[in-house]
Amino acid sequence: MHSANQIKVWDIAVRIFHWSLVLLFFTSYLTGDDESTIHVYSGYGIIGLLVFRILWGLVGTKYARFSNFIYGKEATIEYAKSMATLKPKRYLGHNPLGGWMIIALIISLIATTWSGLSVYGSKGHGPLAGNFDIVISSAMADDDEHEHESGEGDEFMEEIHEFFANFTLFLVFVHIGGVLISSLIHRENLVRSMVTGLKDKDDT
Ligand code: HEM
Ligand code: HEM
Repeated sequence: MHSANQIKVWDIAVRIFHWSLVLLFFTSYLTGDDESTIHVYSGYGIIGLLVFRILWGLVGTKYARFSNFIYGKEATIEYAKSMATLKPKRYLGHNPLGGWMIIALIISLIATTWSGLSVYGSKGHGPLAGNFDIVISSAMADDDEHEHESGEGDEFMEEIHEFFANFTLFLVFVHIGGVLISSLIHRENLVRSMVTGLKDKDDT
């Protein structure tokens, strides 16, 4: 249980969401080159997590809601500036910069998984395969030896998919950097909070 000065900020759903996303993201990233079953299923897992998180951002507990951590221009700029003083305002939930980073991560993950589904579809598999029937059949008409199963698919889509996968990875590095910097200037362990769900009520 938690002590009197602690408050539950991240509910169990947010915490399971976060650490499952970390696991599945790295699994997807590292299996991208071989179009393996693991790649596709970890990707589907991420889509499921995103659907859940967007719904939870609308109807979830206090600190999980988008309305709790999407701040306007003023508060965001104010926070960014005050970081330089090393004494920025402390937020119990996500701070304004952290909040915008979460939105960026979610959008980039949607682009990555959507383009992944498209690459997979262009190879004749998955839910978007139907969209590419014409592309695949004309590729097969061009080349009699062209196997439907090992079709080259849409190379442009593959480039897009690779771009977004790498862009998300870049955001993840910035995200982790932000978490570490915030932890240092507020002298609190944010990573531990994402495990236990607890934060100190007041800044000490
Ligand atoms: C956040 C989730 C995902 C990440 C980080 C990711 C990452 C990657 C990476 C890094 C590559 C290698 C790109 C290259 O070098 O050409 C790749 C390829 C690919 N991905 Fe994903 N991916 C994700 C989700 C998905 C999903 C949901 C699907 C479809 C169900 C998918 C299907 C594919 C396919 C078919 C390839 C091409 C493999 C090949 O033939 O070389 N990916 N992905
Ligand atoms: C091992 C690496 C990681 C660490 C240590 C870490 C740590 C954290 C921490 C401490 C928070 C809470 C920030 C706060 O207190 O405001 C957070 C939130 C978040 N992180 Fe990470 N993170 C990691 C990797 C990732 C990855 C790989 C992704 C996505 C691909 C990700 C996406 C998110 C999202 C979406 C949130 C918002 C949580 C929510 O409100 O649902 N993180 N992370």
